[in-house]
Amino acid sequence: MNYKKNKLHIENILVDRVIKKFGTPTYCYSYNQLKDNILKFKNNFNNINPLICFAVKANNNIKILKEIGKLGLGADVVSRGELIAALDAKISPNKIVFSGVGKTYEEILFASQKKIFLINAESQSEIKTIVKVAKITKRRINIGIRLNPDVDAETIKEITTGKNSNKFGLNSSEVIKLINYCKTSKFINLKCLSVHIGSQILNHKPYLKMLKAVQKIIDKSNYQFEYIDLGGGMGINYRDNNKELNYNRYSLEIHKFIKKNNTKIIFEPGRSIIGNSGYLLTKIIYIKKTGKINFVIVDAGMNDLMRPALYKAYHKVIPSRKTKRKIFKRHDFVGPVCETTDKFISLNSYQKLNEGDNIVICDVGAYGKVLSSNYNLRLDANEILIKNSKVFRIRKKGTLQALLR
Ligand SMILES: Cc1ncc(COP(=O)(O)O)c(C=O)c1O
Repeated sequence: MNYKKNKLHIENILVDRVIKKFGTPTYCYSYNQLKDNILKFKNNFNNINPLICFAVKANNNIKILKEIGKLGLGADVVSRGELIAALDAKISPNKIVFSGVGKTYEEILFASQKKIFLINAESQSEIKTIVKVAKITKRRINIGIRLNPDVDAETIKEITTGKNSNKFGLNSSEVIKLINYCKTSKFINLKCLSVHIGSQILNHKPYLKMLKAVQKIIDKSNYQFEYIDLGGGMGINYRDNNKELNYNRYSLEIHKFIKKNNTKIIFEPGRSIIGNSGYLLTKIIYIKKTGKINFVIVDAGMNDLMRPALYKAYHKVIPSRKTKRKIFKRHDFVGPVCETTDKFISLNSYQKLNEGDNIVICDVGAYGKVLSSNYNLRLDANEILIKNSKVFRIRKKGTLQALLR
C-alpha cells in the first residue's frame, strides 16, 4: 500500500477506483502482502522446518485459504465449519490440526472420518469423547494435549490464553496425569504437546517462559513427543512504531529445544500471516461538528469490524486522497450502528475531510471479517482480493432476503 501523487494505491491499483466498482464497506486483501508474510514467516523459522498451520479463525475466506494452501501452509481449525472450509480450500487433511475447548462428539467424529493430522485435546472429558469415537470408528486417533503454562503473554487481557485463570488447556499436573493415561490407551496415539499463550505478542520473553514450561513437562513425563505445537500469537505492528517480535531470539531458543528433545515443531499463526494484508474500505456519510469534536460518520460499523469496540484495538484510519490542510481538532471516526462503542479511533487532528470522501481502515485482515455480524440488520461487506494487478470479488455482499429468510 502506498500513496502515488497523494492517491492511495494497493498493489498499484487506485483505491478510489476499487471503491467506485465495488462500493463500501468492502474488505480488500493484498495477495503480495500475504505471500510476503508467509515467506517471511518461513524464513524466520527456516532453521526449524516447522509444519505451519494457518489459524482459520483469523480469516476463513475460502479463496484466501486456497492461496494460503497453495503457498504450502496447513490449517488450524476450531470447529466443524472451519474444518470444512479448510478441506474445501484443498488443504490436505494431513496438514490440519483441530484446536478448541469445546469440540463436540459430532465434530470429533467428523474430524476422525476426514483423517486429519491431529486433534489437540483440552480436557480429560474431551479425551474420553475421543476414545469413544475411536472405539466406534475402529481407528486410533492422533492427539495432542494442550498445556496451560500459566504464562502472561503481555498482550491485551481479552486475547490472553495461557494464564491459569483462562479456560484454555490443562495445568501441568493434569497434563502429566493424562500423558500416563494416553500411554496405555490403544485408541489414542499421543503425538503432540501443544500450547498457545495468546495473540498479538510482541515480546519474545513470554515465549521463552512458555518453552521452559513445555520442557518441564517433557522432563517430568519422560515421554517422547513427536511434535510440539507452539501455537501462534506472533504480533504485528498496528501503530507504525517499529515494535516487532524478536523472531531471531525465539527461533534460536526453539532450535536449541528441538535439538535437545529430538522433536518436530508445529506453529498455528493467524494474525502474522494475514493481518496487514487486509483493508476495510469505507466512505464518509456525514461529518457532524460539535464544539469539541468532529464526528466522522463512515459507512462501516462495529458490525463490520468489531476489534476496536471489543477490546479497544488500534487500527490506522487513512484517507484515500491526501491533502495538505490540517484541522487541529479532535476527530472521532465512528460507524452508523446504534451503540456508543461503534467508534474506530479518536485522533487529535486530521486532514480536512468532506462528506463522500473515502477512508481506509488498515490491518484488518485478521479477526476482521470473521468477527463481523449483521447487528442492526446490516449486510455482510464485500470481500475482494488484489492479485497480479487484477481485482477479484472473493465473497459477495450479503442480501437482506437471505438474512430475513
Ligand atoms: C489455539 C490457537 N492457535 C492459534 C491462534 C492464532 O493466533 P494468532 O492469530 O495470534 O497467531 C489462536 C488465536 O488466539 C488460538 O487460540
